[in-house]
Amino acid sequence: MAITERQKQLVRDSFKKVEPISDVAAGIFYDTLFSYDPSLKVLFKGDMKSQGKKLMAALKLAVNTLDNLDALVPVLQKMAIKHVEYGVKLEDYTPVGNALIKTLETGLADAFTPELRAAWSSTYRVMATVMREAAYPNFNASTFKNTKHYNH
Ligand code: HEM
Repeated sequence: MAITERQKQLVRDSFKKVEPISDVAAGIFYDTLFSYDPSLKVLFKGDMKSQGKKLMAALKLAVNTLDNLDALVPVLQKMAIKHVEYGVKLEDYTPVGNALIKTLETGLADAFTPELRAAWSSTYRVMATVMREAAYPNFNASTFKNTKHYNH
């Protein structure tokens, strides 16, 4: 699990461009997520707007704490346990990650270079791995195979 210094910088810089359009980005994110997997809709009980804000806030925290993973890990672990209570399953991290990448692609357009895509994918994978390890005892990152695939 590694994010290079350059990848961290790319993620941080690009997130600054997404922040001003975070309401729009959150909307794209949920539309995309539910088109990938409509069965996830029932998990979200709250108002979508505030949910979107929470998502962006959590991503912001992650992006800003990439340099201090020791501090980020316990936060993600706690969050992962709460997500189990929301009904989130191990495999649901895949459509969420794919929807995140798609949202960034739509929001950043030409600025979303292949290098930037790889940087965000690594960042999400690190976060999702920490969360999956914390919340699902059977999860093993080195043998885990995605059973779900989504088109970007
Ligand atoms: C890096 C991954 C993720 C981050 C940073 C994240 C962030 C958050 C945050 C900050 C909240 C607000 C409440 C809390 O702190 O627990 C939340 C709630 C929630 N998240 Fe996530 N989440 C992630 C992955 C997922 C995944 C994979 C799913 C699966 C569908 C999901 C579904 C939900 C649901 C259902 C709620 C509660 C919504 C409600 O109360 O209506 N999240 N998430």
